[in-house]
Amino acid sequence: MVAPIYDVDFYSDTVISAPIAAYREMRALGPVIWLPQNHCWAAVQHSPALEILRRPKLFLSGKGLSLNPDVNKMLIGSSLNSDGEAHRRQRAVTATPIMADQLASLTPFIEGAAETLADRLTSQKHFDAVVDFARILPVSIVIELVGLPDHGKDKMLDWAAATFNLFDGYNARSEASFAKLRELREFLDIYGKPEHLQSGGLSKRIFEEAPKHGFSLEQSAQMMRDYIAPSLDTTISTAAYLAYAFAKAPEQWDLLCSDLDKIPNAIEEAVRLATPIRAFSRYVAEDVEFHGVTMREGDRVLVVYASANRDESVFENADTFDITRKTHKHLGFGQGVHMCMGMHLARLELKQLLASMAKRVKRWHLDGEATIAMNNTIRAFETLPVRVETL
Ligand code: HEM
Repeated sequence: MVAPIYDVDFYSDTVISAPIAAYREMRALGPVIWLPQNHCWAAVQHSPALEILRRPKLFLSGKGLSLNPDVNKMLIGSSLNSDGEAHRRQRAVTATPIMADQLASLTPFIEGAAETLADRLTSQKHFDAVVDFARILPVSIVIELVGLPDHGKDKMLDWAAATFNLFDGYNARSEASFAKLRELREFLDIYGKPEHLQSGGLSKRIFEEAPKHGFSLEQSAQMMRDYIAPSLDTTISTAAYLAYAFAKAPEQWDLLCSDLDKIPNAIEEAVRLATPIRAFSRYVAEDVEFHGVTMREGDRVLVVYASANRDESVFENADTFDITRKTHKHLGFGQGVHMCMGMHLARLELKQLLASMAKRVKRWHLDGEATIAMNNTIRAFETLPVRVETL
């Protein structure tokens, strides 16, 4: 069978600016399609995307998730970019301090920060939902709870965005990001040492856990990337999306305020619709017939989480924001062995944000032109002016 072809650059400004229509066109072509401009396959329907995530021996992460081999050389070895036993050992170190049962001690800090923020924003009434609302908690968590030295404070967002820009072949955005990724590595080499880290912080826990699993000091320092790179833009994107979605669908805000137990599901629905990480690739380990196409060893396949999350065969009225829908099949946090290790922390932050706003806000309104962040991997608003009516 001839593979369906979608002859558009997946990382072009056009697709990044208006991805939903592009995903719809891709899904209509078939479960797995060929992207000649990116020289890779793309799993665009839910079923093949899920299957790839659940077959990590056939679809490898350990050769890197980027389409660009130079980028992979820099990232291979992190939890995200490793396989099998190496992945398991590494994940055992960094996932432990942020497991659901470990987060109770972080709750008072996050709750306090969310309450202070909600007070400030509801007295301002007009604010930017990205800069003033969504960014505040994730950044202060990296600094305060992770316990990194203040030196990196102003660079953190830049470094995180740069990491996500690298997941493309060779466009200007990825080229510009190399230098920033080097900066992050150097920062961690120099400052990511126990003597520079705040006591009681999550990073310090890495240095307690890592030696038990046979890791050196240098390896432990680089492991802190697990808390920086993937934690910021993802959570920020979801928080801003929630503000947008509730402004567009006020009846959903009413529903949430009338029953705060709906908050967790509202968060999953926002992660489904926003899908902050739109796609990562895997390396095909051996020749395989897969959902109607023939993949060869060494091919790359993009798992397009964002498209899978709008597959109508799994999610009815997939483009509608509905906080009561069954969301458990969404792939916004991934699936299988590489499923997001920070999801419990992200959920906690987002829950506190919504709970604090629900106590004070009657209505969200869009308040001017929103702009889209031009990032190769992260889907997010760059700016989102909003106005809130208070209770
Ligand atoms: C709403 C927020 C978030 C979203 C949507 C998200 C999404 C994802 C996705 C889709 C993956 C799977 C990647 C794959 O299939 O290869 C992943 C993995 C990961 N995430 Fe998150 N993430 C979020 C928040 C966080 C936070 C707060 C942290 C850290 C504190 C974090 C750390 C990680 C790490 C380290 C991995 C790699 C896990 C592994 O390979 O075993 N994430 N995330």
